[in-house]
Amino acid sequence: MIEYRNLRVALLGAGSVGAQVASLLIEHGEELANRAGAGLELVGVAVRDIAAPRTAEIPRELLTTDAESLILGADIVIELMGGLEPARTLILQALNSGADVITGNKALLATHGPELFEAAEQVGAQLYYEAAVAGAIPIIRPLRDSIAGDRIKRILGIVNGTTNFILDRMDTDGDSLEEALATATTLGYAEADPTADIEGFDAAQKTAILASLAFHTTVPLDAVYREGITTVTAEQVDSARKAGYVVKLLAICERLTDAEGVEGVSARVYPALVPRSHPLAAVHGAKNAVFIEAEAAGDLMFYGAGAGGIETASAVLGDLVSAARRHVIGGPGVAESTHANLPILPMSRVITRYQITLSVVDQPGVLAAIATLFSAHGVSVETLSQSVLAQSVKGRPGDTAPSATLVIGTHEASEADLAATVTALETSHVVRSVTSVLRVEGS
Ligand code: HSE
Repeated sequence: MIEYRNLRVALLGAGSVGAQVASLLIEHGEELANRAGAGLELVGVAVRDIAAPRTAEIPRELLTTDAESLILGADIVIELMGGLEPARTLILQALNSGADVITGNKALLATHGPELFEAAEQVGAQLYYEAAVAGAIPIIRPLRDSIAGDRIKRILGIVNGTTNFILDRMDTDGDSLEEALATATTLGYAEADPTADIEGFDAAQKTAILASLAFHTTVPLDAVYREGITTVTAEQVDSARKAGYVVKLLAICERLTDAEGVEGVSARVYPALVPRSHPLAAVHGAKNAVFIEAEAAGDLMFYGAGAGGIETASAVLGDLVSAARRHVIGGPGVAESTHANLPILPMSRVITRYQITLSVVDQPGVLAAIATLFSAHGVSVETLSQSVLAQSVKGRPGDTAPSATLVIGTHEASEADLAATVTALETSHVVRSVTSVLRVEGS
């Protein structure tokens, strides 16, 4: 066996990912050392409760409740505790002592990323975070290194497995949202409190991280526009299928030039209609995928497991080998690049396509009245289909005219113009209700 310099690795957290990292590191230590060119000695694992059950066995003598002491003298610290504190303080301590840090903590990066990157840069250390977005899928290193010579136009990501599972069940089995969520909970995809997933908070954190990296611009979490999937109905999913679309919760990071000619970054999360022919439409179950549109490379897609203990441990161990190689070579870490510093465009200035479903009065002049409303707000109609309900739905008292359903697809329009159009439709005397407004992405 080759004699390598030994690097001391401290692990903070032994939950589903942390326990697998410890176990794989112990089991494959020699192989990883050969790849890294340095011995990787797991010097300890900081946990809250030494006696707690774990998904993989960790030797008792490695466990400690004293994270601060464990960090002292470590060359590489792996933070997998989750949450903002004490993770933030411990990472800052580790960086300030010159250790490289690996984290899978998306909430922390999305909230305190600039502070942590600054601390790393000050001491020439490096912060690695492949596991923070889309679990096992390599996406951080491709964005940071492999595609760094290109110019990214847009990222469309399915970065939350729970919501993809739910929407996929609604699409393939015709389940309601409640039924699909119940199945996701039974199968262990959804947490007891599913709020972070179904309201889009988890996806928004990942969007902030991806957009910052892709556009060399700090994108704060509160600049990410967010809508969850809780308002998606079985009827919307069904009519999307009939129209050749599938509803997906998308993380969208886009370089945009708005109506005033300002170039900026848009970061947003919402359920959108994706054409069935788009590669993201084929992402089923709880899988994740990140679709990148780059100027020179064209379209790229990264697909795989977005969660899971051993799967995410793979991303952490990849970072560990990278960090160890860096230690062997020496020199400062690569600082996070935010040089572009593009303005972050608010949602009102986003330009995209829409599909609007209306229940209208079925009588002469209605189509013309609706078309006038769209044109008055500068929104151009691309497609229109009408179906007359078998049984007419009564409108306001005294209103006995039959109803028809109109599905209107628009050309690209600004969110502000579209919102004004929808407000006008809602108050129009020929519209009984605006039943659905969904954005169309990926076409
Ligand atoms: N809860 C997330 C998901 C995994 O459902 O994809 C962790 O980010």
